[in-house]
Amino acid sequence: MTQDELKALVGQAALKYLVPGEIVGVGTGSTVNKFIDALATMKDQIKGAVSSSDASTLRLKALGIPVFDSNEVERLSVYIDGADEIDHQGHMVKGGGAALTREKIVAAQSKQFVCIADESKLVDALGAFPLPVEVIPMATARVMRQFEAMGGSAVVRLQDGQPLVTDNGQHIVDVKGLKITDPVAFETQVSQWPGVVTVGVFALQKAQVCLLGTSAGVKTLNF
Ligand code: 5RP
Repeated sequence: MTQDELKALVGQAALKYLVPGEIVGVGTGSTVNKFIDALATMKDQIKGAVSSSDASTLRLKALGIPVFDSNEVERLSVYIDGADEIDHQGHMVKGGGAALTREKIVAAQSKQFVCIADESKLVDALGAFPLPVEVIPMATARVMRQFEAMGGSAVVRLQDGQPLVTDNGQHIVDVKGLKITDPVAFETQVSQWPGVVTVGVFALQKAQVCLLGTSAGVKTLNF
């Protein structure tokens, strides 16, 4: 099976976690796009979605799925999103699609995080994928120096030769070479640095379930 087919497989499998009549939290990325396409086939059975990015909002609305502001909803039963990496405890690195801040907000208001990913995303320890960090532009150089002092190597993410601007009007720094041995401690520490909006380690809001697309079918990991 191709990676694209594996993504479609887990996107479809995530439907069984939806609660009829409720609003579902929807993440961002190519795997989530498959989930949104699958969701459209049963849109009459849910009330709508809270979205984690402008891109997902556009796709949801184009398929006729109502999108609610996160402030209108106190608690979601389930949040479906992808990951750049996920370990065997459900800790993730996210933000490859630059949507990490809104993803963390929707994850925080959800009872259950169901991660959908192809098997290439499962790792023993986080850190191989460059860690995305959303930063307020005036703090970029300082934050990059702090990561370099930790042994990382940081670059500003570009789009068309200019710093990428997130849905929140901020920039992204990608950090290579970090060893994230204690994801909770790492997320707690970096989240406190002035100018850091969101660090792409999701350990405080980790996944409870991962639907992993493998050549043998969907494997369910419960954490
Ligand atoms: C976006 C994300 C995505 O979930 C992550 O990048 C995985 O994306 P894909 O499903 O395209 O591999 O965190 O900010």
